Amino acid sequence: MTGNSPRFCRLDKLLTDNRAFWQFMPFASPELVWQHSHPALCEWLDGLSDAAIAEYLQDGESLAQALSPWLPDAPELYHLSQLESLVDLTDCGPEFAWPKGLEVGIPGRKWQQITAFNQAIPMLKLPLLEWCAGKGHLGRVLAVRHQMPVVSLEWQQALCEDGEIAARRLQLPIRFVHADAFDPASAAHVVAEQHAVALHACGDLHVSLLQQVAARQGKAVTISPCCYHLIRAPHYQPLSQAGRESQLQLSKHDLRLPLQETVTAGQRVRRQRRAEVSFRLGFDSLQRHLRGSDSYLPVPNVQKAQLNEGFASFCRWAAEKKQLELPAAIDFEHWLHLGEQRFARVERMELVRQLFRRPLEMWLIEDRAGFLAEAGYQVTVGTFCDKPVTPRNILIHAERKDN
Ligand SMILES: C[S@@+](CC[C@H](N)C(=O)[O-])C[C@H]1O[C@@H](n2cnc3c(N)ncnc32)[C@H](O)[C@@H]1O
Repeated sequence: MTGNSPRFCRLDKLLTDNRAFWQFMPFASPELVWQHSHPALCEWLDGLSDAAIAEYLQDGESLAQALSPWLPDAPELYHLSQLESLVDLTDCGPEFAWPKGLEVGIPGRKWQQITAFNQAIPMLKLPLLEWCAGKGHLGRVLAVRHQMPVVSLEWQQALCEDGEIAARRLQLPIRFVHADAFDPASAAHVVAEQHAVALHACGDLHVSLLQQVAARQGKAVTISPCCYHLIRAPHYQPLSQAGRESQLQLSKHDLRLPLQETVTAGQRVRRQRRAEVSFRLGFDSLQRHLRGSDSYLPVPNVQKAQLNEGFASFCRWAAEKKQLELPAAIDFEHWLHLGEQRFARVERMELVRQLFRRPLEMWLIEDRAGFLAEAGYQVTVGTFCDKPVTPRNILIHAERKDN
């Protein structure tokens, strides 16, 4: 039986049909990639001011409308990625009397995330397992609200120790397990009579929890996924039957798209990014010319201080890293100018890719939900907080149907 929703099937078709608009590396292309296939779209993109781009990045619905002459599926893609909130504000609202000191040591935004996550999940009167717990901030909140024991599994010893101290101080029934979630022995902590949770466990880490829960027929599991690209295989391995049947093959680069949230960056960060990307693209144009090869050459991460030294210094640093000899006379101004022009094109290609950011995340979410439905679970998908609290605000909750 396939557990995938009609939404998955539609997203899959639209993402597949429109691959040419998102499944490529804007960095690697010196021109707008649709220069020949969609010249009118490129003309429109070229005519956009920086302010107009910033506005479209804030307003996905307007972006979808604006792109619809060339991408008739754009408005539907936008609507397919809208989700209901799962937070029940009538239950355990902000006025809930949390024990004094519970929030000590929890940064403000993390506190907002975990109290919202807590509000979005039902109380099942089951022992809890917190997968990839960090310091167990969520586990403490759930131990209080659910009045149930919690096992918190975490890989970093220091975080386990901090979490243990906090739990002891508050006299909460929490046991830390210092373990690698991928170690087959860790599966022993996943049991049938349990509600397993994972808040922002990266890529394969939350996938491993879903697989263990399904294998052991755990009663309930709730996750909020993040970092879809942190996987061990070279490509995404779909979980559901329809996911496996999809024609989409997702690389790690593709899987980063859902995380590309430019909207929250401030002026200073945006200026820094513009400088760095222009430097990189200017160097890329230079190296293509010097090597006589029209292919992109990835350059490693750079210290911010290196960027302050200017473009010429950056090129010397990058050339050394790539074992490329620079001639004595180089017109750096020319190559920087090319880099700045390419930056403007990358921004415009990324603007079009933005339209697919949330739909691709929804495809990945529905693949997880479909897997759980196939394993016999009743699955709910929705948001647990607004994006400013965390852009990774989607929650999947699954309960065994025979509960
Ligand atoms: C993004 S943090 C989330 C922590 C916590 N759930 C939260 O929301 O605050 C991911 C956590 O996974 C842990 N982690 C990474 N790899 C792991 C592994 N192989 N096994 C167990 N935990 C792991 C990290 O140490 C980190 O604490």
